[in-house]
Amino acid sequence: RVPLLLDALSRPLRDLRISVTDRCNLRCTYCMPAEVFGPDYAFLPRAELLTFEEIETLARVFVRAGVRKLRLTGGEPLLRRDLPELIARLAGIPEVEDVALTTNGLLLARLAPALRAAGLRRVTVSLDALDSVVFGRMNGLNVLVERVLEGIEAAAQAGLGVKINTVVQRGVNDDQLRALWEYFRDRHVLRFIEFMDVGNHNGWSTEHVVPSGEVLARLGGDFTAADPNYRGEVASRYVDGQGREVGLISSVTAPFCGDCSRARLSAQGVLYTCLFASGGTDLRAPLREGAGEDQLYALLEEVWRGRTDRYSEERTEATPRTKVEMSHIGG
Ligand code: GTP
Ligand code: 5AD
Ligand code: SF4
Ligand code: SF4
Repeated sequence: RVPLLLDALSRPLRDLRISVTDRCNLRCTYCMPAEVFGPDYAFLPRAELLTFEEIETLARVFVRAGVRKLRLTGGEPLLRRDLPELIARLAGIPEVEDVALTTNGLLLARLAPALRAAGLRRVTVSLDALDSVVFGRMNGLNVLVERVLEGIEAAAQAGLGVKINTVVQRGVNDDQLRALWEYFRDRHVLRFIEFMDVGNHNGWSTEHVVPSGEVLARLGGDFTAADPNYRGEVASRYVDGQGREVGLISSVTAPFCGDCSRARLSAQGVLYTCLFASGGTDLRAPLREGAGEDQLYALLEEVWRGRTDRYSEERTEATPRTKVEMSHIGG
């Protein structure tokens, strides 16, 4: 076998996050604000999107480079037609150990059984509040919490593992933390994410970040740290006296670039080596010009070997620059 591919900071490539669409059926203020992503917004035309066959080919190339975990993202991945067909293709790649999906949950009630049948093991559902007024304001379209909760239950019913992601913004939903914890602690693993300066439209400032330490204190439990499930796990795990788990994703106050083994592939086939990248490498053009897996692997190898990204460790508010949109790489 080929030796392990390492980047310039000795980090392997283990995890590929694949965006399958740039569209979403929500307009979260911190991701796709309705003022920017309005009725006239030009989303990618279908011909620009990688086909399932192209995604599978690229996934095989990434697997050759060391990837063992695939996560489908968006925009909202469940808007991509026939998604279970893609899941079946990806789950069928022998070296792939984990196929997961990040979703807002709105279409889960309808799709969960087909996703499970196609080979999906688990989903991560984003939900930022239990109060419908707060959630409606944050999701930009007044969509009700109940729809997400129904999707979550349908996923669990279908046999999918479920985690919940909550982005915490001070003054926006930081009054929701305890209610979320009390609701989910006996049901599913909940993770709180520090609000990050991703994309170009979310009006980020450190004032809106609630440090994870403060989040934990506000939950009111008696927590102890637990070991990570795997090297480079993004969330720090904590358990309360009854063994119930909460995760804290502290990209702002405790960056985890040192172990970052994640690559991201946009819906139109651009490879990004960091969530905060300002540019990427087009893999679709060579693919459509007939490059085979060997050639694509050589390109990926070159990009990964040269990778020096560690944005969260370098972040300062004084370095504005254009970054890839969250809706193009799905977090
Ligand atoms: P598990 O596989 O269940 O451990 O999930 P995960 O944490 O790998 O994936 P998930 O999509 O749930 O990640 C949670 C959130 O953490 C993402 O939505 C991002 O907001 C953030 N995140 C994930 N990866 C990175 C990363 O490489 N850098 C930064 N800064 N944030 C990340
Ligand atoms: N900061 C932190 N997390 C974010 N997400 C989207 N935008 C941000 C941000 N600015 C989260 C979503 C979802 C995942 C894909 O990324 O809420 O859980
Ligand atoms: Fe859609 Fe997720 Fe972005 Fe919200 S955070 S607008 S659900 S892609
Ligand atoms: Fe990885 Fe970039 Fe996130 Fe650091 S900021 S953990 S390098 S994706």
